[in-house]
Amino acid sequence: MRLAIVGAGPAGIYAADLLIKAERDFDISIDLFDLLPAPYGLVRYGVAPDHPRIKGIIRALYEVLDRGDIRFFGNVKYGSDVTLEELKKHYHAVIFATGAIKDAELDIPGVGLEGSFGAADFVNWYDAHPDFPRTWDLSAKEIAVIGNGNVALDVARILAKQPLDLLATDIPDNVYQGLLKSNATDVHVFGRRGPAQVKFTPLELREACHINGVDTIVYEEDFKYDAGSQLAIDSNNQTRVMVNTLESLRGIEPTGANKRLHLHFFSAPDEILGEGGKVSAIKIERTELDGNGGVVGTGEFREYPVQAVYRAVGYFGSELPEIPFDAKYGVITNQAGRVLDEAGNAIPGVYATGWIKRGPVGLIGHTKADAMETIACILADQNSWWKPTEPEEQSVDQMLSDRGVKFIGWPEWLKIDATEKALGEAQSRERVKLVERQDFLDAAFQKNS
Ligand SMILES: Cc1cc2nc3c(=O)[nH]c(=O)nc-3n(C[C@H](O)[C@H](O)[C@H](O)COP(=O)(O)OP(=O)(O)OC[C@H]3O[C@@H](n4cnc5c(N)ncnc54)[C@H](O)[C@@H]3O)c2cc1C
Ligand SMILES: NC(=O)c1ccc[n+]([C@@H]2O[C@H](COP(=O)([O-])OP(=O)(O)OC[C@H]3O[C@@H](n4cnc5c(N)ncnc54)[C@H](OP(=O)(O)O)[C@@H]3O)[C@@H](O)[C@H]2O)c1
Repeated sequence: MRLAIVGAGPAGIYAADLLIKAERDFDISIDLFDLLPAPYGLVRYGVAPDHPRIKGIIRALYEVLDRGDIRFFGNVKYGSDVTLEELKKHYHAVIFATGAIKDAELDIPGVGLEGSFGAADFVNWYDAHPDFPRTWDLSAKEIAVIGNGNVALDVARILAKQPLDLLATDIPDNVYQGLLKSNATDVHVFGRRGPAQVKFTPLELREACHINGVDTIVYEEDFKYDAGSQLAIDSNNQTRVMVNTLESLRGIEPTGANKRLHLHFFSAPDEILGEGGKVSAIKIERTELDGNGGVVGTGEFREYPVQAVYRAVGYFGSELPEIPFDAKYGVITNQAGRVLDEAGNAIPGVYATGWIKRGPVGLIGHTKADAMETIACILADQNSWWKPTEPEEQSVDQMLSDRGVKFIGWPEWLKIDATEKALGEAQSRERVKLVERQDFLDAAFQKNS
């Protein structure tokens, strides 16, 4: 069997690995495509640079791809460099594992003002995504971050942290230089619900509460719990630990550090206010618990002067050409990984896995369970696979070359990898990321190495 996987993030790589290792009565050869010149998806372009332990998952993903039984095609975009019709010509089936790269919308007045940023865009900047701008406006002294998920914590931490403390990571020079110019003194994180309803994880919250050179401040009025909150605290260990972490900050006097991280709860964003087209304040409505862990508005509004707002209210998947898409949830329409047509019938040969299958929630490890479910469907569906007319491996390389697509195979990726490590070594760092697509291509196709 010849299988195409579109998306070389953890979901795509786990799916390939699981299928190779699955009990099956047929030979298999897998090609893994990604529009980026680098593999690993959000592990490389989402996980914060100061989380080296998580970035370390790249080592395990690398080992899968380095075995030689899965071919990598970087710099190849499904929809333009390769189409569904072409995949049908070369493969028996395809899995889409295209994840999510953009911000969910926050529909409040003022989101279009200068200084109102999507968290995903900021992440793409500091993680050096090649298709996003190289500069970032960090002139704001006071900043609002909306949302109580781990992305909000990542963004707040990177904004509050001393840039020098990031220098040991793989951030490129433009990001370090940008952060050095930051004027940030106060980062306010606003959650619309309470301490027992946060979507953080315990380690990440503890880390955010103890950033070197930053005072973390909580507010007495925000420590309220209803029956729904108590149930969550009693039944969920993670909630209990996080509530304890937040409770332990109550009444602590600030040390007088020159940066502060303020954690506000029961504060729903209502409007981003502006002056001269630029963000000047955030208006929130205070909320209160409804008895079940949900909240309702109180009608009390407050304004906080801020010069930038980061919206970290979740990610959202993107539609792919010729593939059914559920625009409400931002996922490929599917059942257990089988992609469905408008009538709800499984489309032969087309599958989905990872965040584009079940939405942008969950950790890297969760994509493995996803992949298992999708792989089980593929194995059960042998009779409905496509019948490719050009199943030879080389026909794919030929098609891309004929089209002038400069695809990056695994040997080329290894050259890029070595280049990044060499850049790092020169600065006594493990690696420094390349940023520009052209730099990837230069490193990939360099002569004599
Ligand atoms: C900011 C952020 C930080 C995170 N930090 C952590 C963390 O510390 N720990 C943790 O466990 N989880 C973390 N997560 C969650 C984790 O990143 C996801 O669970 C996981 O990456 C989802 O995997 P995926 O393969 O479905 O999608 P992705 O990782 O997004 O991979 C999808 C791949 O598909 C490619 N692609 C998209 N469209 C096309 C196309 N048309 N053609 C070809 N290729 C395409 C993309 O370039 C990408 O490489 C974080 C998420 C975010 C957003
Ligand atoms: N270090 C890590 O392990 C790490 C780092 C980053 C991301 N991740 C994972 O990646 C996934 C995505 O993270 P995420 O932070 O993007 O999403 P998330 O966990 O779903 O959090 C989204 C947050 O935005 C809030 N929100 C949504 N709509 C809102 C609105 N209209 N107004 C105000 N607030 C709103 C939500 O509040 P409600 O709860 O009230 O809806 C929630 O607090 C998560 O599973 C996360 O754990 C992990």
